[in-house]
Amino acid sequence: MLLKRRERSLGAGAELFYRHPIQLVRGQGAYVFDETGRRYIDFYNNVPVVGHGNAHVADAISYQQRTLNVNSRYLHEGVVAYAERLAALHCPRIESFVFSCSGTEANEVAIQMARLATGRRGILCTDAAYHGNSDLVGRLTNVGRTQPESPDVHAFPFPDLYRPIADGLSEQELEDAYLAKVQDAIDRFEASGVGLAAMLICSLFANEGLPNLPNNFMARAAEKVRAAGGLVIVDEVQAGFGRAGRWWGYEVTGFQPDIVTLGKPMGNGVPLSATGASRNLIERFRGRTDYFNTYASSPLQAAAGMAVLDVIEGDDLVGNAAKVGAMLKEGLQGIAANDPHLGDVRGRGLFIVVDVVTDRKSRKPDPERAVALADRLKELGFLTAAAGAYKNLVKIRPPLVISKGDAASFLEAFETARHDIGG
Ligand SMILES: Cc1ncc(COP(=O)(O)O)c(C=O)c1O
Repeated sequence: MLLKRRERSLGAGAELFYRHPIQLVRGQGAYVFDETGRRYIDFYNNVPVVGHGNAHVADAISYQQRTLNVNSRYLHEGVVAYAERLAALHCPRIESFVFSCSGTEANEVAIQMARLATGRRGILCTDAAYHGNSDLVGRLTNVGRTQPESPDVHAFPFPDLYRPIADGLSEQELEDAYLAKVQDAIDRFEASGVGLAAMLICSLFANEGLPNLPNNFMARAAEKVRAAGGLVIVDEVQAGFGRAGRWWGYEVTGFQPDIVTLGKPMGNGVPLSATGASRNLIERFRGRTDYFNTYASSPLQAAAGMAVLDVIEGDDLVGNAAKVGAMLKEGLQGIAANDPHLGDVRGRGLFIVVDVVTDRKSRKPDPERAVALADRLKELGFLTAAAGAYKNLVKIRPPLVISKGDAASFLEAFETARHDIGG
C-alpha cells in the first residue's frame, strides 16, 4: 500500500489532505486525475497558477535546461529581462530584485534587508500569520497563539470585521481600535530599545483567513510604520500574480510596499521566489551580505518565470480571476444564505473562503464541519481544504485558468455537499 510505504519512507506525520487521501498521477489545466483515471476539478492549488501541465511553461523549462543552466555569477540576458519585466508590473518603488527558491527565503532576505537599512531589529506581524518555516521567519508564525512573542518579534491582532476585537463598534471605530494595537506594538519596540525595522504582512491576510478589513486599515498601518522609521514588507507569496483579480494584493487592499516578497505561483511549480525593493535598498543588502543562492537567479528560473507571465498576460488570467471569482463568490453567498452553519463568504478574485460556524449568532468556528465539507466535496470530485486561523474555513483558490462552466459545477456540488453533511 502506498500509504504504508509513504509512512516508512517519509516518516509518519507528513501531512495529507482528506480522511481518505487521494493519489494523483496527472494534471491538465484545472483538472487532476487519480490512479484510476478519475478526474477532480482543482479548486485549491495556487502554485499551478496557469494550469497543471501547462505546455508553454513546460516547453520553456525544457528548452532552457537543454540549452544552458548556470548559477547567478554569469551575465545572462534572460535573468535581467525577467527582473525588468517583473519591476514593470509593480508600483514604481519596486525597481530591483533578489531571487531565491522559496517564500521562506524571500522573507528571510526581506527581513535582513530591512534590518540592514534601518539599523534596528524589530519585526511586526499579525497574531495568526505564516510567512515560512526557517528559524527566523518561523518566529512570525501565530505569535501570541502557538508561540510567544520574542524581543524582536511583536504581533498585533489581525483586523477582521466578522469576528472583531470588540463588539458594537462602527467600522471606523474598529479601524482605530486595530490601529491602536499596531501602535502599541511599535511603542513596545521603542520602549525596549529594540526599535522597529519593519512590518511584514500578507497583503490579503491569506493565512489569517482573508478577513474583510476596515477600509483604510492598510494605508494607515503603513503610515504608522513609516512614521516610526520602519519599512513596509508585503508578502505576496499567496496573493500575487493575479490571484485577487489584480496583479498584486496590495493593489486590492490599497497601500504600497517598500519591500515585496513573491513566490508560490511565480514559476508554476519551479522553485522560484523573489524579494523586490528600490534599487537603493537592494544594493545596500547586496553590499553587506554577498548573498548567494545556488539555484536562484538562474536562466532556468527566469525561463519559467517569463513563461508564466506570458500566459497570465496572453490569456488575461487576471481578468478571468476577477470575473469567475465574482461569479463564484455571489453563488456561494446565495448558498450560504440558506445554511445557518455557513456564517460568511468573503474574498477577492479567485481567493474565497466560506467561514463555517456552529451557528450564525455566536459565529463560533466549526473546524470539524469545515473538514467534513471539504471531504464531501472531494468525494464529489472537487478539491478544496479547510484552513484559516481557526481551521474552519473552506478555502477556494483554483488555478487561474478555471472556467465559468467549472465554477458553475462547483456551486452545484457545494450545494449538494452542504446538504449531504446535514446543512
Ligand atoms: C503568505 C505566505 N508566505 C510565505 C510562505 C512560505 O513559502 P514557502 O513554503 O515557499 O517557503 C507561505 C507558504 O505557505 C505563505 O502562505
